[in-house]
Amino acid sequence: MTRLSMKVNNKPVSVEIEGRTLLVQVLREKLGLTGTHVGCDTSQCGACVVHVDGLAMKSCSVLAGGLEGCEVTTIEAMAGPNGELNAVQQAFQDFHGLQCGFCTPGMVMSAQSLLAENPKPTETEIRHYLEGNLCRCTGYHNIIRAILAASGQNPEPATAV
Ligand code: FES
Ligand code: FES
Repeated sequence: MTRLSMKVNNKPVSVEIEGRTLLVQVLREKLGLTGTHVGCDTSQCGACVVHVDGLAMKSCSVLAGGLEGCEVTTIEAMAGPNGELNAVQQAFQDFHGLQCGFCTPGMVMSAQSLLAENPKPTETEIRHYLEGNLCRCTGYHNIIRAILAASGQNPEPATAV
């Protein structure tokens, strides 16, 4: 066992981990941040996406031991202090970008990351960026609309799905 110290959602945390411990296990099992979901455990679904030092990563694929001193942000930090939704979350709600909601934390974290890199993405750029995020419910159409709306653009994509 070794000790890992990092910041999670702007708070310092220190936990005991094994060499094989994954970031998603630290978040869910040691810190109780269960908004980060595990959909596959094989790096395919994207339900576990969080930000590490500002970059979107699949937390099921990151060994926690390499994160000493890093800053991790999870879906729990997206809403404001009184639970007010941020622009991406609000757009997912407004445009029905979720159904069961299982993929939604990862989708929102990926969308945040995309908009940080590219504030006005095209529909094609959104679809390309979300290739690593799978949704079994929505058919993606309303997710694309939500992200277009969150970026201040016309939420009606040109491509029929
Ligand atoms: Fe990490 Fe599916 S649980 S990609
Ligand atoms: Fe159900 Fe995406 S809303 S998996």
